[in-house]
Amino acid sequence: MIPEHLIEREARKSLQRLLPRVEQTLKKNISKDPRGWSQFTTRLQKNFPALFDLYFEVYNDRYDFFYHLEGLLISIARSWFNRPLDLRELDESREKNPLWFQSNQMLGGVCYVDLFANDLEGVKSKIPYFKELGLTYLHLMPLFKMPNDENDGGYAVSSYREVHPPLGTMEQFAALARELRNANISLVVDLVFNHTSNEHTWAEHAKAGDEEYADFYRIFPDREMPDRYEQNLREIFPEEHAGAFTFFSELFPPPISRIEGRAGERGGGWAWTTFHSYQWDLNYSNPAVFNRMVEEMLFLANQGVEVLRLDAVAFIWKQLGTSCENLPQAHTVIKAFNAVTRIASPSLLFKSEAIVHPDDLVKYISPDECQLSYNPLLMALLWNSLATRKTRLLSHSLATRSKIHPETAWVNYVRVHDDIGWTFSDEDAALLSVNGNDHRRFLNEFYRGRFNGSFARGLPFQENPVSGDCRISGTCASLAGLEKSLHEEGAEEVELAIRRILLIHGVILTIGGIPLIYLGDEIGTLNDYTYRDDPAHERDSRWVHRPRADWEKYAKRSDVNTIEGRVYQGLQKLIALRKGSDAFSGGNLEIISTENEHVLGFVRSHQGKRAIIFANFSEQERVIPVRVLKQYNCFIAHQVHGSSEIIDQKELKLSALDFVVFCP
Ligand code: GLC
Ligand code: GLC
Repeated sequence: MIPEHLIEREARKSLQRLLPRVEQTLKKNISKDPRGWSQFTTRLQKNFPALFDLYFEVYNDRYDFFYHLEGLLISIARSWFNRPLDLRELDESREKNPLWFQSNQMLGGVCYVDLFANDLEGVKSKIPYFKELGLTYLHLMPLFKMPNDENDGGYAVSSYREVHPPLGTMEQFAALARELRNANISLVVDLVFNHTSNEHTWAEHAKAGDEEYADFYRIFPDREMPDRYEQNLREIFPEEHAGAFTFFSELFPPPISRIEGRAGERGGGWAWTTFHSYQWDLNYSNPAVFNRMVEEMLFLANQGVEVLRLDAVAFIWKQLGTSCENLPQAHTVIKAFNAVTRIASPSLLFKSEAIVHPDDLVKYISPDECQLSYNPLLMALLWNSLATRKTRLLSHSLATRSKIHPETAWVNYVRVHDDIGWTFSDEDAALLSVNGNDHRRFLNEFYRGRFNGSFARGLPFQENPVSGDCRISGTCASLAGLEKSLHEEGAEEVELAIRRILLIHGVILTIGGIPLIYLGDEIGTLNDYTYRDDPAHERDSRWVHRPRADWEKYAKRSDVNTIEGRVYQGLQKLIALRKGSDAFSGGNLEIISTENEHVLGFVRSHQGKRAIIFANFSEQERVIPVRVLKQYNCFIAHQVHGSSEIIDQKELKLSALDFVVFCP
């Protein structure tokens, strides 16, 4: 690190030297677009010191540091010249209103292009539906070029600049982004930047023995280094391969000798593959990798992407002797990406995907790193509370862990395309006399439907044969009891399942930040077991909750005599509630001690507006005493949601799984 007081000076000196070289290289662009150049240099002057400091921190030991820094500046400037004018306008308007994403009008949805609507044109035709639902944010699951058979649902990217052909073209993608923006919906996609597919041209070059590209990945000719690294690594997809490395015979092809050819010699080597063996981890200690990924990132931003979901952030930096997760340099690299966006695509936001211990999770969240973050803790604890019918761990964790920087926001969800991992803190659990590991085992049994009295129909994901650990797959409705009750039980159980679905959605819609709906959940979509017939999916139970959208079922959404209609209309009421009060903007949150362990209570407030929420996680009637109501000014006249009532102006009797809101 450069001492604080010198950064600014050193950065300015470097910029003074580099800028004329950039100008020289981009002469033509500058003369064609002088206004663009002046906008660019204004932002560059302002943000370069931060970028320089971060880049220096990671790459200062490279003899070719300045070579890469110059290359980076040229790439950034080039991409600015390619930035369409409407996006440059968006940049300006976002700079004037940087907290736009904290509005209570925000509502997110996420879906797979092919499964939801066949292709990009199909997604376009669904814009009226997105508007009906109230979306202002649409996350399309990975849609870039990927291997045809196994591709981890697109998380193995073969080209960041090409749409996977069956889904459409890059032109269609940019046009869709624009149409969505006109409909006031921000487009979100993943930047899968921890790894590429082994079919990416970078990987192809590496396989062919090109040393420049071999250095893009973490590949080794023998087991020496892999063995040393693995002493400290967690296994992420143990069902797919043990450890973190995969052997490929095509790596390290022996050099061709002019006389003997390749006869008799054997190549082969180990590639770092944290996830599947066809997903090769990139080597960010190589500045060329950073620079090339910046180019890909800005290319996507210039197509009209407004939010990038940074995939698997925890894994991007590796260092021998550590777990290679959540290392300080991972943060520095992400912050450096962020500094780049402030210069060349200032309206772009980052959302971090870190499914890690809550202490590590929050470290990715800040205005200069990721402004948005998934909230896997809330997600896991909502399911925990449904299983235990208790809210102590949820209340405690929310009270101590939800506060983040006021210029950032949580993205709150109940389900996404991934499994549920029980990432609550063991220390928090211990405070409440709960043993974390035993409790995780219970939750897994419960959601696999193996625990007596369980309502859930989930499947294990990545069961570790050695430790017995696993995570849970399943759709919201199937985990909440709808599948079981429809098949085995009666109307009463169906009613409870629907209430569970609405209860947890009620929480994510009101608790602050951006709520995100996994599309399909809004009509109570059940597990789809046909993935077992597909050789590319049969070994990955997450496909049970990735069904093809059934538009005949969607057609029933306005009929409240159908399950679809009851879930959809119930959700619509909650969405209207959110959008109807400013109290739900921003992230202010106070947890109420409800004096009833089955009931979560919280206060939301924003610029003088307040809302008080009580959520009963049990199937029994529960009571909130009068003193709690008085303390928070909850009177009958203020109740805006929920079927429960305050009895005789006194206590609140909450019916089973009810979600009650007061707006005083
Ligand atoms: C992220 C994705 C997950 C994928 C993994 C590897 O965690 O959410 O679906 O398997 O990254 O890219
Ligand atoms: C692990 C990773 C997370 C990923 C998930 C996919 O939990 O930490 O990034 O989403 O696996 O199942």
